[in-house]
Amino acid sequence: MSNPRIIVPLDFNTAEQALQLIEKLQPDLCRLKVGKELFTKAGPVLVEKLIEKGFDIFLDLKFHDIPTTVAKACAVAADLGVWMVNVHASGGSEMMSLAREEIEKKSHRPLLIGVTILTSMNQQALAELGIQCSVEEQVMRLAQLTSDAGLDGVVCSAHEVKMLRDNLGKEFKLVTPGIRPGGSSNDDQKRVMTPGQAISAGSDYLVIGRPITQAADPIQALKDISEEISAASTNV
Ligand code: C5P
Repeated sequence: MSNPRIIVPLDFNTAEQALQLIEKLQPDLCRLKVGKELFTKAGPVLVEKLIEKGFDIFLDLKFHDIPTTVAKACAVAADLGVWMVNVHASGGSEMMSLAREEIEKKSHRPLLIGVTILTSMNQQALAELGIQCSVEEQVMRLAQLTSDAGLDGVVCSAHEVKMLRDNLGKEFKLVTPGIRPGGSSNDDQKRVMTPGQAISAGSDYLVIGRPITQAADPIQALKDISEEISAASTNV
């Protein structure tokens, strides 16, 4: 069975655009991420359609609410058949534990992932919230809380992978955006890593958008990146 480590985000606001792109992709080479924009427009019907076409879906809705509400939302995501779903770690350990308990009752159990500190937030943004420690310390604290609550991993910057891998062990899944193959545009990403570097650092799954979705030949871009990942994986 293939275990693609690339997750392509479907950053579109219509189902048609998303479906057009996935006609050019292959489920044995990538999984797909459906986030708030596309889900708000096209909803679970589109997710079911993508699953029918053979793709694993990361439902990136970053749930953050009282424990019961989040746990019920995660349970519905499990019933929908998604491969991965996420919650904000800052919702706390009770919220995360209850979400895990609910999906563990399901016949299909998605991977449950925590979001630590959004990479759009810096030290100043944390200070505004009354958080005085460094971004790195807060990421580590929330990732530890996520692990202690029994979740499967976190979304993190590729630059945090080594610290998290060293502290949280090899089973903890690390999902990293901000990936750019050598020679491609950084777009609006500030601190990027190449696919090979991220895999060598210990990342499990790479969220790679525009280098694939905006490529003249998306499937070729996907194949090239998959090869780079395979080469890096044999050296890990
Ligand atoms: O096109 P690009 O590769 O930059 O897309 C990255 C994807 O990962 C987007 O869907 C973006 O919202 C998401 N993401 C990110 N940084 C985070 C979390 C998610 O870029 N910290």
